[in-house]
Amino acid sequence: MNNTTSSNAEENNNEMVVTPWEVKGKVDYERLIKEFGTQPLTPQLLERVEKHTDKLHLQLERKIFFSHRDLDTVLDLYDKGTKFVLYTGRGPSGPVHIGHLVPWIFTLHIQQKFNTRLYFQITDDEKYLISDNADLKNTAKWSYENALDLIALGFKPQDTFIIYDTQDIDLLYDITLEVAKRITYSTARSTFGFQDSTNIGWIYWPAIQAAPCFIHKKLTGENVPALIPAAIDQDPYWRVTRDIAQKLGYYKPAQIHCRFLPGLGAGGKMSASMPETSIFTIDPPDVVKKKIWNAFTGGKGTAAEQRKTGADPTVCSIFQYYFFLFEEDTAKLAERERKCRGGEMLCGECKKDIAEKLNGFLKAHQERREKAKDVIDQYHIKR
Ligand code: TYM
Repeated sequence: MNNTTSSNAEENNNEMVVTPWEVKGKVDYERLIKEFGTQPLTPQLLERVEKHTDKLHLQLERKIFFSHRDLDTVLDLYDKGTKFVLYTGRGPSGPVHIGHLVPWIFTLHIQQKFNTRLYFQITDDEKYLISDNADLKNTAKWSYENALDLIALGFKPQDTFIIYDTQDIDLLYDITLEVAKRITYSTARSTFGFQDSTNIGWIYWPAIQAAPCFIHKKLTGENVPALIPAAIDQDPYWRVTRDIAQKLGYYKPAQIHCRFLPGLGAGGKMSASMPETSIFTIDPPDVVKKKIWNAFTGGKGTAAEQRKTGADPTVCSIFQYYFFLFEEDTAKLAERERKCRGGEMLCGECKKDIAEKLNGFLKAHQERREKAKDVIDQYHIKR
C-alpha cells in the first residue's frame, strides 16, 4: 500500500510514513497535525478537560496526547448535558505490547472521570484481510488474548462493551452499509492508498471500523457523539467517517490522538511485527531483561567516554519508557535526564532499573489477565 503522508517513501528510509497499517521513519507530529488537518491540544482546552478530571492526566500534561478533532465540541455538549461514548480498539495480529496500553490507560481514565460507556472493537476481520499469513483461527485466538489485556487494565463490564467483528457482524452490518454507500472508491483510494492489487475485502473494510462510532444510537436510541482515543495512525478512518456522519443523522466522531511509544531499536514505533524490539504484556521476566539489555540508548561507545561527555536521552528508547509510563514524578524524571546528560548515570543503571519496573508492572498485569479469563464473557456486547 502506498501511504497517506508521502508518495516516495522507498527513496529514503527515514521518510515518515504514518498509515493505519504502517508507521516508519521519524514521526514529525507537528507535520501530521498539518497534513491530517487535526487540531493541536491547546492549554485552554486542557484547562477545560482538567475541570472535569480534578488533575490533568500525565499523558495530557506530557503532551503524549497532543492533537484532537472536535474535543471542544464534545465538551460543549457535555457541559450542556449531552454525554458522549468512548470508542477504541485493537487489531488482533499477535500479543499486545506496552505501546497499545498507552491509549487504553488514558481511555480508562476518561471513562472513570466522565462516567461513560466504552465500545471496544476487536478487528479480527481486518487482520485477516490485510495480512498474507493470517488465518481466522489465529486471529480468533489473539482476539481472546488481547481482550484479556484490556480487562486486566481495570475496565468494568457494566460500561465496557467488546465487539469481536466476525462474531458480532450482525450488530454492525446495517451501519457498515449506510457508511459504505456514502464513501466513494475515489475517496477511499486517496485516503488509504488502495491499489489495483488490493483485495476487495480490504476496500470495504473501513466501513467496519467506522460502524462502532454510531452503534450506541442503535443499541440505546440515544444520539450522542463518540470520542475516540487512539494513536494518530488510526486517523484516516475518522476522516472518511466524519465526512458522512451528519448525512446519516449522527454526530461527527471526535478524536484525541497520542504519540507512539517507540520500540527498543533506533527510532520507529513499538510494533508487534518486530517482536525483538517490543515488550509484550505476556513476556516472561528473563525475556524482558534480555530485550532491555539489547535496547538502543543515547549512550556512548565506552563508559569512560560517557562519564566525560554524557549521553543523549532524546534518542533513548529507555528514557521514553520512563516518560510515557514508568516515571510519574516529573521532578524525578528531570533528575534522571540531568544525570544522563551529565554522564553521572550510565545506560546499564537505567536498563537494570527499567527492567525491574517493567517486570513488576507485568507481573501484576499478568495476574489480572489470568483473573480476566473468568469474567471475559461479561464484556461481550449483548444483543
Ligand atoms: P492496533 O491493534 O494497530 O493498535 C491498537 C491501538 O494502539 C495504538 N498503538 C500505539 N499507541 C502508542 N504507541 C504505539 N507504539 C502504538 N502502536 C499502536 C493504535 O493507535 C490503536 O489505538 N484498526 C485498529 C483497531 C481498531 C481501532 C478502533 C483502534 C478498531 N477500531 C478504534 C483505535 C480506535 C488496529 O489495528 O489497531
